[in-house]
Amino acid sequence: MSKAAITGIHGYVPDYVLTNTELERMVDTNDEWITSRTGIRERHILKGEGMGSSHMGAKAVQGLLEKTNTAPEDIDLLICATTTPDYVFPCTANLICDMVGIRNIGSFDIQAACSGFVYALTIGSQFIETGKYKKIVVVGADKMSAIVDYTDRATCVLFGDGAGAVLLEPNEEGLGIIDSIIRSDGVGQNHLFQKAGGSRYPPTHETVEKRWHYVYQDGPSVFKFAVKNMADVSAEIMERNNLTGSDVAWLVPHQANKRIIDATAQRMGIEPERVMMTIHKYGNTTAATIPLCLAEYESQLKKGDNLVLAAFGGGFTWGAAYVKW
Ligand code: ACO
Repeated sequence: MSKAAITGIHGYVPDYVLTNTELERMVDTNDEWITSRTGIRERHILKGEGMGSSHMGAKAVQGLLEKTNTAPEDIDLLICATTTPDYVFPCTANLICDMVGIRNIGSFDIQAACSGFVYALTIGSQFIETGKYKKIVVVGADKMSAIVDYTDRATCVLFGDGAGAVLLEPNEEGLGIIDSIIRSDGVGQNHLFQKAGGSRYPPTHETVEKRWHYVYQDGPSVFKFAVKNMADVSAEIMERNNLTGSDVAWLVPHQANKRIIDATAQRMGIEPERVMMTIHKYGNTTAATIPLCLAEYESQLKKGDNLVLAAFGGGFTWGAAYVKW
C-alpha cells in the first residue's frame, strides 16, 4: 500500500506586522509579559476590505502549485482546515479552488480548531492510501484577527493570521504519513470557543453587545489540557511506532505557547534544536501553524527524516502524525 508523502509545501503570511510594542498602545500589556508567558514577539495580520481566510489559503495553494509545477487540473481533492471560514457556507475550500482555477473536484473544510491541519492531513492521507486519488492539496488557513477582541488583553496578544499548504502524493519507498492519531473531548467546549454566529446563537444585537462573536479562552485551564494531551499523544505515536526521542529528527508542534512546546519536547526527550519554532514571529495562526513551520524549516529537512507533528485546540481536539520525510 502506498503511503501519502508530502511532496511540496508553501506558506503565506500577510505583510502587516503587529508587534508587542503596538499592542502595548492598544491594551494594558507589555512586551515582557507577552514574551515571557508565550514566546510571541510579533504576528502578521491581514488588512484589507473583503478578504478572508480564503485569500491567504489561495496564496499558499498558488505558491504550492507553482513550486511543484502542478497544473490546477491535476489536483484530485482539496481539503481546507479553518476555524475562520469566509462564510458559514459555501466552504472556504470551494473559494480557494475558484481563486486558483481548480474546478470539478471534491473540496471541503475541516473544523477542528488548532488541530485542524493534523485532522485534514489524516483524512487526505486515507484517499491516497486507498488508491482513490493521486494528488491532494491540504491547506490550513486562519484569519484569527477577524474573531479576536482587540480590547481583551488575555487573547489579542496570542493570535495571528496565515496559511500553509502541502501536496500529498503516493510514495512507494515507505516515505510519507506513516501513522496518525486524532482525538477530541467535548469537556473543553466551555474553555475555548466563539459563542455566537452559529446556529445556537445566531447574530443579534444582543450577541454583538455581549461580545459573543469573539474568541473566549480560559487560558490556564486550556494550558493544563494542552500540555498533558499534546505530550500524551506524541508519546503514544512514538511508542506504537517504536521511536525514541533520538530517532525523531524534528518535532513539529502546534504553536500556541512556547511553554507548552517546551514541555512537550522535554517529555519526548527532544532537544530544543530539533523543535520547529515560529511562534515568536507568527503567534498562533490556528490551523496554519504546522504547515507554516514545515515551510519555514523546509531547507533543513532531509529525505527519511522522522517528524512528529503534534497539535491541540478548541473542543478540545488534539492529534499527532508520524511523517517520514
Ligand atoms: N498582558 C499582561 N497581563 C496579562 C495579559 C496580558 N496580555 N493577559 C493576562 N494577563 C494577566 C491576567 O489578568 C492575570 O492577572 P491577575 O493574576 O491579576 O488576575 C495574570 O496576567 C496571569 O494570567 P493567566 O491567564 O493566569 O496567565 P497564564 O500564565 O496562564 O498565561 C496564556 C496565559 C498565555 C493564555 C496561557 O494560559 C496559555 O497559553 N494557554 C493555552 C493556550 C492554548 O494552548 N490554546 C489552544 C489553542 S488555541 C485554539 O484552539 C483556537
